[in-house]
Amino acid sequence: ESTKVIRQNSKAPTRAPSVSGIGAVVEKPDYSEAKIVVAMVGLPARGKSYLSNKLMRYLRWLEYNVEVFNVGQLRRTKARHEQEAGKGKADHSAKFFSHSDPKANAAREQLAEESLEMLITWLKAEGGNVGIMDATNTTIERRDKIRQRVARDPNLQLLFLESVCTDPAVIAANVALKVQSGDPDYAGMSREEAERDFLSRIAQYERVYQSIEEPGISFCRIFNVGQRVFMNLIQGYLQSRIAFYLMNLHLKPRSIYLSRHGESIYNVEGKIGGDSDLSERGWQYARALPNLIKDNIGDGPLEVWTSTLQRTMQTGSFLPFEKKTWKSLDELDAGVCDGMTYEEIEEKYPEDFISRDEDKFNYRYRGGESYRDVVVRLEPVIMELERQENILIIGHQAILRCLYAYFLALPQDQLPYIKIPLHTLIKITPMAYGCDEKRYPLPIQAVDTHRPKPLRQRKNTLENTPILSAEPDELVFQSTTARDYFGHLPPLSVGTEQVQEDVSADTKLPTGGMIKTHGLGL
Ligand code: F6P
Repeated sequence: ESTKVIRQNSKAPTRAPSVSGIGAVVEKPDYSEAKIVVAMVGLPARGKSYLSNKLMRYLRWLEYNVEVFNVGQLRRTKARHEQEAGKGKADHSAKFFSHSDPKANAAREQLAEESLEMLITWLKAEGGNVGIMDATNTTIERRDKIRQRVARDPNLQLLFLESVCTDPAVIAANVALKVQSGDPDYAGMSREEAERDFLSRIAQYERVYQSIEEPGISFCRIFNVGQRVFMNLIQGYLQSRIAFYLMNLHLKPRSIYLSRHGESIYNVEGKIGGDSDLSERGWQYARALPNLIKDNIGDGPLEVWTSTLQRTMQTGSFLPFEKKTWKSLDELDAGVCDGMTYEEIEEKYPEDFISRDEDKFNYRYRGGESYRDVVVRLEPVIMELERQENILIIGHQAILRCLYAYFLALPQDQLPYIKIPLHTLIKITPMAYGCDEKRYPLPIQAVDTHRPKPLRQRKNTLENTPILSAEPDELVFQSTTARDYFGHLPPLSVGTEQVQEDVSADTKLPTGGMIKTHGLGL
């Protein structure tokens, strides 16, 4: 039996009704009516791409279909194609951004229009929910064009997001990032030259920049990436959710530390759920944790969050920091299976066991929860994490998988299989684009509670992947499919034991050849 949850653009989503007594695969919520064009506004180096990507990650985690359409990237791709076609190298130095050069102006306008057209096509034809147009859109004239184009489609909403940044340190960091990131605009230039050119590009935009003042439009103006937010005519549920998220952001350097509780007695017995105490080795980990933390972040500041379950509170009990307990951090509720081993579940509820393996993210335990339910209940935790600085979360396997997937932008099918071993501290540091991760395992033995996806399901998934072409001894999978299935990093190699090749976008997976996965424990 499956339950369909209908969510509408203008209304808050209803939570799926609890189907106690029946384990079920609960389908993805229907967000098909949500269609928003988010158009960024602001000078170069004001954090527009940072905000676009962060917003994309958050909304994707909540299962909206989101893409960023970056006009700069489109410009570079087109320039590369033209160069490859022998049309010469385009000049994208500051001159191209001069607003007094009619030819350059026309070329930039055309790129913006093209990018918006691609975005709208994607929203309409490919089930997109939120398309983010990452461009400067600094003039009223440009924004008028965007408004007119979006208004032609009555099903589309338009929200402008203006990023105003006055903090010289943030601007300098963004400029440095641009010129050091190997940006093709600055290929072959020295760092000094590149920086001079980029600053002169910014100056071109400053001459024409008009902050949003047009009446009657929906917009958020964000000062210094979340320090202050001004909102105007925010419409409907999804827009207000976007605005609320943006209000909670900050750019202060900090890290988020994730650790599971020390090994519990239930872990040793192979049982899931429950509220058991730590095992002797679990207590050893709890006693070792203060030094591990001290070696990594010194004496703070740090706040420790635990769940309401004994094993997390016991693990944090030796830490000399302020602590908070969150009910939302309690482990995924296994319903009628709570306190059982996986073997017992397989014996007593064989169909449920198979259903869970087939679609672990969506499977809801009888009288309990699914990973999706957990993501929904963790949303306030994510929001609070965005507001805070250094936080250590002492949590549980399923909970930490969901939080980790948010920060590392991992897709749903991988989420329930992420390896979060016991007795290991994970440090996540937000960076300009995405997050950095470090793991600190402590040499205190513990059982391995990770249960890999069974082979039969892996095989089915692979067999069901779209195949682009099939030669007698060679299959070509749709470019991202193999990678999507196997992992976010190149976790897969093909070939013989001696000669292995990491999978890239177009890797051909030979039939009967050896396929080896690494890293994700699949
Ligand atoms: O085994 C430890 C545990 O935290 C259980 O309490 C919980 O049910 C399980 O991990 C979640 O992991 P999985 O979703 O892989 O079963």
